[in-house]
Amino acid sequence: MNHDTPERDPDGAAQRLRDDSDAHVIKCMGDVDMGLVEGEGVRVRDADGNEYLDAISAEWVLNLGFRHPEIRQAMEEQFGKIDYVSPVFEDEARTAYAKKLAELAPGALSKVLYGLSGAAAVEGAMHLAMRTTGGTDFVCLDAAFHGRTFATIGLTYVNPGMVEGSNKGLDRYLPRQMRVPNYNCYRCPLKLEPGSCDLACADHVDWALDKGHLNGPAGVIVEPFQANGGMVPAPDGYLERVHEMAKAHDVPLIVDEIQGALCRCGPMYASERAGIEPEMIILGKALGGGLPLSATITTPEYSELLPWEYGFTQAGNPMACAAGLAMVEIMVRDDLPENSERLGNLMVSELEKIQQDSSLIGDVRGQGLMIGVELVRDRETKEPAFEETDKLMAACLEHGLMIGKTGPVFGSNGNVAKFKPAVNCTEEDAMEMVELFGRALRDVEATL
Ligand SMILES: Cc1ncc(COP(=O)(O)O)c(C=O)c1O
Repeated sequence: MNHDTPERDPDGAAQRLRDDSDAHVIKCMGDVDMGLVEGEGVRVRDADGNEYLDAISAEWVLNLGFRHPEIRQAMEEQFGKIDYVSPVFEDEARTAYAKKLAELAPGALSKVLYGLSGAAAVEGAMHLAMRTTGGTDFVCLDAAFHGRTFATIGLTYVNPGMVEGSNKGLDRYLPRQMRVPNYNCYRCPLKLEPGSCDLACADHVDWALDKGHLNGPAGVIVEPFQANGGMVPAPDGYLERVHEMAKAHDVPLIVDEIQGALCRCGPMYASERAGIEPEMIILGKALGGGLPLSATITTPEYSELLPWEYGFTQAGNPMACAAGLAMVEIMVRDDLPENSERLGNLMVSELEKIQQDSSLIGDVRGQGLMIGVELVRDRETKEPAFEETDKLMAACLEHGLMIGKTGPVFGSNGNVAKFKPAVNCTEEDAMEMVELFGRALRDVEATL
């Protein structure tokens, strides 16, 4: 690591990047004063020459780390053949990737509807569900995150900016949504205790499907591990229960695995953890091996669309499909579900050891390499430690570690530190991440 660079921005390149970016780039997803210019594996370098250990896979998009040589080779081979094929034609890479995704998917999921971004794939799932059921109303969770387009923002309420936007008139574009209480065993919205609650939060889904809709239910959409809503895993039995309810009402269970799939929560598809075979799984983020690509994978029953009602010129881009297919083949070949599960368990148990001596850590939770550490000022009252979490993020950077931050209620005021490292990282990488985190936490706690 070269983290002790003495002189900041010696040739002014970082400042020039900042100035040009401020002048020409609209920053709609936050604005961190740091330019990232080079990456390799789990290491990334900023424009000042500082190196960081990346514990978040570059916004959980590079599930095999920066510039994986075999993904690069797959991109080069594809570029050597053909670099774009319109969605109206057949394409080898697009077809091969759809076939592989279907082969690995649970149950009868065999048809792939490609999109470009996560939100675009969620909209694809909404189209498919509405077309088949004839309903228009979706059940979604209180702190869900399904995107920021006009249709998906209605199913997403984690950020005050979004609420403000919809209050200022954007809500005329929103679909009908039936919002139900979150699953969150650390902060149960129903004030119940895990173990004795009988999953009462799930019962609200049944009520919504039965009585909560105006124009007929179209589906239930749920993340298997709520990410932006606070890094919260669905409790055991929840997805199974909700799936039974959806089936009883003849609507699809749509599992948004945009973050959870591709070995992030352990298995290739997060739904496998619960042993469910949902009617749709939505994929994004890492799906294109680092290039923009998303998809809804669905059953033949839910695969009907009218001509031109959905689609994108660049959907299923062959370069992205070739890169994604190479990534998935590596995941299978190298048994990365097992690596994610094993290292995730190890990281959680090391973080729990740090928790024992910490005044700030309230809860550690994870599935595979999808891990959240919730900071609170008081373990009894669970008052969120927002400022301390900001300080911890800064201290981690000081120690050369990049982590993320989220929820549990509003993304921009988060008190949950998140780890989502590359799923092919080594035990040494994972332990170094925890070690640096522990040091940063001690620095912050020493100031309290
Ligand atoms: C669970 C989930 N769904 C949907 C989205 C939207 O994806 P995108 O930003 O690619 O549109 C995100 C993005 O963070 C997400 O985490």
